[in-house]
This record gives sequence, structure tokens and C-alpha cells, in this order.
Amino acid sequence: MGMIMVTGSAGLAGSETVKRFLSHGLEVLGIDNDLRRYFFGAEASTAPNREALLKLPGYTHANTDIRDMDALSALFKKYGTAIQAVVHTAAQPSHDWAAREPLTDFGVNALGTLHLLEAARRHCPEAVFIFTSTNKVYGDLPNALPLEEQATRWELAASHPFFRHGIDESMSIDASTHSLFGASKVAADVMVQEYGRYFGMRTVCFRGGCLTGPAHSGAELHGFLSYLMKCAVTGRPYQVFGHKGKQVRDNLHSHDLVDAFWQFFQAPRHGEVYNLGGGRRAHCSLLEAIALCEEISARPLRWSYQDQARRGDHQWYVSDCSKFKRHYPDWQCRYDLRSTLQEIHDALAAG
Ligand SMILES: NC(=O)c1ccc[n+]([C@@H]2O[C@H](COP(=O)([O-])OP(=O)(O)OC[C@H]3O[C@@H](n4cnc5c(N)ncnc54)[C@H](O)[C@@H]3O)[C@@H](O)[C@H]2O)c1
Repeated sequence: MGMIMVTGSAGLAGSETVKRFLSHGLEVLGIDNDLRRYFFGAEASTAPNREALLKLPGYTHANTDIRDMDALSALFKKYGTAIQAVVHTAAQPSHDWAAREPLTDFGVNALGTLHLLEAARRHCPEAVFIFTSTNKVYGDLPNALPLEEQATRWELAASHPFFRHGIDESMSIDASTHSLFGASKVAADVMVQEYGRYFGMRTVCFRGGCLTGPAHSGAELHGFLSYLMKCAVTGRPYQVFGHKGKQVRDNLHSHDLVDAFWQFFQAPRHGEVYNLGGGRRAHCSLLEAIALCEEISARPLRWSYQDQARRGDHQWYVSDCSKFKRHYPDWQCRYDLRSTLQEIHDALAAG
């Protein structure tokens, strides 16, 4: 039987990927050493997700660190060409955290990705390689778009070509402030493309907007909607940084993200790049997200405002997924913003 390797398997995107591929009768080898706990503290640990996955038939777990090439090579060697796909979601995922330890960030995001590409090339070159990149590869260039201030949000000028569907892949990834996280992800993103173009491997970069869902171990530095709802449910104070709280993001439920992985796996291409997010159907400003969290949780959120935006933070970002939809017309988004937040709320309320 075929098997799939999922890195970051206990994380938000990884755990959803494991469940989806198992449901199609594939075996899954998950790799995750709970580095998220080191990044963001015990509350953000993904150990509970790992324990839940271990109960699923067909799932095997390795606590391997993707920075350890020898250990990774041993796993690839063991499974060889039985590996039909590598879904690479392990990462240091925070914009802000990266500046604390640039070497760790680059080691995990850039070097770890190169390790996986090279091990796949040596041991299973036919495997599909799916990489979760990020919209931060565009740095702060989206902030140069002509934005208008509205009552609760920044909004793109209606005459702009990105107004209707959002930002597409034609945006430059060059000459802007990325944050160290954005830069390490650019390095990985370009390398994933290169293994597709130069070596002919079936690789893809999905440049995600905000990805979320009940499986997110939300922390202040990563997992915006999940953490926001956690604050609403627990009464913990929430801090808004800059842009008057009117910064706009689009949000994609991890279920819909993984459906895109599944579509690509069934009909892979070489060295592709796609923007992937909730798009216009699931976007909101921070102020609008706060109002929706308050409504769903039926509790007021205690939040305060600090007039200092996070460096490189996007003021307005909505993903245009048209290219992916054109290539994969069967991709269906099941969730909108309200249903995503409702699910996060219900999971938190259930404890
Ligand atoms: N969540 C978002 O809003 C978002 C947005 C855009 C892109 N992305 C990207 O999507 C991917 C998945 O994000 P997520 O939200 O699921 O993150 P997550 O933190 O929930 O999951 C990542 C998992 O990888 C593990 N991990 C980290 N470093 C590791 C290492 N060196 N070796 C082994 N395991 C390691 C962590 O323990 C964690 O369980 C990341 O590449 C991230 O950059 C996420």
C-alpha cells in the first residue's frame, strides 16, 4: 500500500492532512518533534494532537527534527519509493518569533525544507512534494497598494485589478521587507520551485493567507483567529498592534487547505506556485473579527490597542485563488468565516 510522509503532522495543517489521507486508505508517517512548544510555550504544544493521531489505524509517528539530515535520510531510506507524497508543513511559523533566533528560524524553514527536498530526490524522486509556503514571501509589498480607510477596515481602491479577487501570483517577492520569517520562507519556496523546474520533481508551493481551524494550538505570536477566540472564551485580554485594528486578512479553514493538497496529489504538476486563502468569501479586518468573536461567544472581548504595527505586517491581504481553481476546478471550499469561527469556538468551549 502507498504511504504519505507528513512533516509537522501534529500541527494545524499537518494533523488535518494526516486525517484526510488516512481516510483515503493511505498509510501516513508523521514527523513532528513538538518544536512548537519551544517556540510558543506549553500552551501551544501540539502534543495533544499527536496523541490523538497515534490512536488512528495506519498512522506512524517519528519525533524526528527536520534539521537532522541523518535521521531524515534514515526514514527516507527505510520507506524509499513507497513514499507517494511528502506534505511538508513543519515550520517555525511566526513572523515575530523569527527575529528572536534567526538561526533557528532559517534552520527549520529553509534548511529543513532543503533536507526534505534532497532526501526525496535521492530516495523517492517520483513522490509529489507539497509545501506550505506563505503570503509573507511578498514581504510588505501589499502595503504599497492604494488603500482607503473605511469605518472598520482598510479596503483596496475599487479600480485596482486586485480589488475583485485579491492578490495573485504576479506580485513580486523581491525588494520589500519580509521579516526574517518571510525571508526564510522565500528561500524554501524558491528551492521547492527549483526542485520542480531543475530536477523535474512534482513540487508545489501553496502561499497561504491565514490558515486556521479547531486543530490550531493558537498562541499570541501565531494563529490569529484561534487565539482571538481563545481570548473571547477565556476572558483573557487581547492586544491589537497598529493599523487602527483595520488590517484585513483572509482566512482558510485547514479542511479546505487540505482539500487543495488532495486535488494536487491526484493530478500533480511540476514546480507550481499558488496563492491559497479564504479569499473574498472569508476575509475580515481585525475589528470585524473581534465583533464576530464577541457575537459567537456571546461575551465581550477585553482588548487594547498599541499604535505600533508589527514590522512587515500586512495592512490588507486577500488571496486570489483563481489560478488554483483554474487548474483544479474540483476544489471546493466548505467553510466561510462564520462557520470557521463557530467551529473554533465550539472546540474551545468543549475544552
Ligand atoms: N497558520 C497560518 O496562518 C499559516 C499561514 C500561512 C502559511 N502557513 C504555513 O503553513 C505551515 C503549517 O502551519 P501551521 O499553522 O499548521 O503550523 P503549526 O505550528 O500548527 O504546525 C507546525 C508543526 O511543525 C512542527 N515542527 C516545527 N519545527 C519542526 C522541526 N524542526 N522538526 C519537526 N517538526 C517541527 C511543530 O511542532 C508543529 O506541530 C507552515 O509552513 C506555515 O509557515 C501557516
